[in-house]
Amino acid sequence: MPTLTDQKLGWIGAGRMGYAMAERLAKNGCDIAVWNRTKAKADPLAKHGAKVVNQLEELSTKDILFVMVSTYDDVKEVIGKALAKGKPKMVVECSSISLEGSAELRKTLSSQGVEYLAAPVSGNAKVIKAGKLTFVVSGPKAAYDKARPYLDMMGTGSSYVGEGELSRIAKICHNVHLGVVIQSLCEITVLAEKVGMPRHAFLDFLNKSVMGSMFTRYKTPALVNLDFHVTFTPKLLRKDLDLGLDAGREFEVPMPLTSLTRDLLQQMIGQGMTEQDFSTLILAQAKASGIELKPENKEVGDGLSA
Ligand SMILES: NC(=O)c1ccc[n+]([C@@H]2O[C@H](COP(=O)([O-])OP(=O)(O)OC[C@H]3O[C@@H](n4cnc5c(N)ncnc54)[C@H](OP(=O)(O)O)[C@@H]3O)[C@@H](O)[C@H]2O)c1
Repeated sequence: MPTLTDQKLGWIGAGRMGYAMAERLAKNGCDIAVWNRTKAKADPLAKHGAKVVNQLEELSTKDILFVMVSTYDDVKEVIGKALAKGKPKMVVECSSISLEGSAELRKTLSSQGVEYLAAPVSGNAKVIKAGKLTFVVSGPKAAYDKARPYLDMMGTGSSYVGEGELSRIAKICHNVHLGVVIQSLCEITVLAEKVGMPRHAFLDFLNKSVMGSMFTRYKTPALVNLDFHVTFTPKLLRKDLDLGLDAGREFEVPMPLTSLTRDLLQQMIGQGMTEQDFSTLILAQAKASGIELKPENKEVGDGLSA
């Protein structure tokens, strides 16, 4: 009977997402070695049993090499370094990247006999800690069957959507929806407040209604108390809206709401609002509406804690 320590795992990227994902594998007793460009960010993983390595090349010959960085350029850079010194049996690439980038990566890896799964995710670091991360996966089914126990260990499960880069478009669509929903949520919350309602009261109603979701609930503390420590940056969201618009152009699908949301996000980024969470869109919306928001200092649930 195979056990979860049979496969030697490598992990590239211990940013907000990568750290929390690798932490779950380490805590579950997997044999995992982690590299991050800024090593200090990965170091605390050692206390959970991960081996934190100095050189990326030390991960080159792992059974399954996970990648969680930022853009496709970053993915190319780290995979290039890994392949320069050997080859892993399988690469599971989890960053949010384009269809084209993913296809190019598949070509590079398959020419070297390396199995490849495109496995982007839904959820932020807090969602991962709550055990609610999900994966959408495409690539050879046999590779998915091998990687699946590890994917499932990082959250509530994975959806296998077929061959090739199909998971990439699923993730792009998902994040386009995220962008449009957060903009709409900010608009209506500011409208409710300007008419005279506390934000926590309005969002309490919304969250209990059919329009409430895990997302509206976990963004509620940020919108009520204006706590904007980063879960996902405005620039990473802009990257995903751009990926959506590129796909829309390529496949001749009009995406009017996405275009508008991209411009509103761009306005915010252009004003230098880049370092906090993307939910600072509510501040931009309040400014455009001529009101100044104040933290309500209310204890509101995020729907994630048990
Ligand atoms: N945050 C979310 O809610 C969320 C949700 C779903 C998907 N995603 C996607 O997940 C990916 C990671 O997001 P994140 O929020 O974890 O970002 P992040 O906190 O900014 O982390 C980025 C990671 O990539 C590494 N990196 C970037 N460029 C690199 C390069 N050229 N060479 C080596 N390492 C490089 C960074 O290393 P350093 O530490 O040295 O900078 C860091 O470990 C993105 O594609 C994002 O779109 C994010």
